[in-house]
Amino acid sequence: MVEGTVVHVGKKSGLHYRHPRPEWSTEMEHIELSSFPTSDPEDLYNKQELEVLSRDFPQGGFVGFDGDSAVAMGLGVQVHFDEDNPVHTVHDIMPGDGSSGHIPSGDWYYGTSIAVNPTYRRKGIGGELYLLRKQVCITRNLKGIIAGGVMPGFAKYKEEMTADEYITAVREKVIYDSTLSFQANNGFELVCALPNYIANPEIDNYAALIIWRNLEYKES
Ligand SMILES: CC(C)(COP(=O)(O)OP(=O)(O)OC[C@H]1O[C@@H](n2cnc3c(N)ncnc32)[C@H](O)[C@@H]1OP(=O)(O)O)[C@@H](O)C(=O)NCCC(=O)NCCS
Repeated sequence: MVEGTVVHVGKKSGLHYRHPRPEWSTEMEHIELSSFPTSDPEDLYNKQELEVLSRDFPQGGFVGFDGDSAVAMGLGVQVHFDEDNPVHTVHDIMPGDGSSGHIPSGDWYYGTSIAVNPTYRRKGIGGELYLLRKQVCITRNLKGIIAGGVMPGFAKYKEEMTADEYITAVREKVIYDSTLSFQANNGFELVCALPNYIANPEIDNYAALIIWRNLEYKES
């Protein structure tokens, strides 16, 4: 029997969502590694950092359980973000020094990982995780969600267009990207390319800056 209060039951998936706990860090690391097979593990949360994140900011994360098995997660931290200087790398957010990167005074939610075990995909779980993260922004009066979105489909197009041209084509629905189109369909703006965001040679280390704005945000 899994400990921890069920904070949400997925309407589409039936998964039971709980806030992350340090003792689940091995399972969470497994979800992370199996979901980002072409990324350098150095750029992903490791077990120790997942333990720290689960202590620092459990309210901002969700782990989806099918019975006793953790099969999906959406994690994030609060950060400060300068929209006039938006280009950054994953290490600006997740320092890789054993800390979670969570800044309690930050007024944006940075989505550090959204990952669904491969056999559970396309059942609505990713969409449910986004709804839960959006609710975190509303509850905590944060400006919205930012992330460096991976764009696996760019591998096929990188000889014929730039990363920014690819992002524009996905935004205009000329090209479907299995991850970036999903983000756009969940209300994210596809803003611009982030060079050298994360080591991922298949897509020349690019990511796309994606932003969802909390329209209920109130300046204090
Ligand atoms: C990206 C990711 C989190 C999406 O998770 P998911 O659970 O498959 O997401 P959903 O099921 O909510 O939506 C995925 C697609 O399936 C569709 N879908 C949802 N339920 C469906 C159903 N019952 N039948 C058919 N299609 C369905 C959705 O409409 C969506 O389509 P779209 O891509 O055209 O928008 C998942 O693919 C993943 O873990 N990828 C690897 C890690 C990664 O890249 N993370 C993102 C980092 S930025």
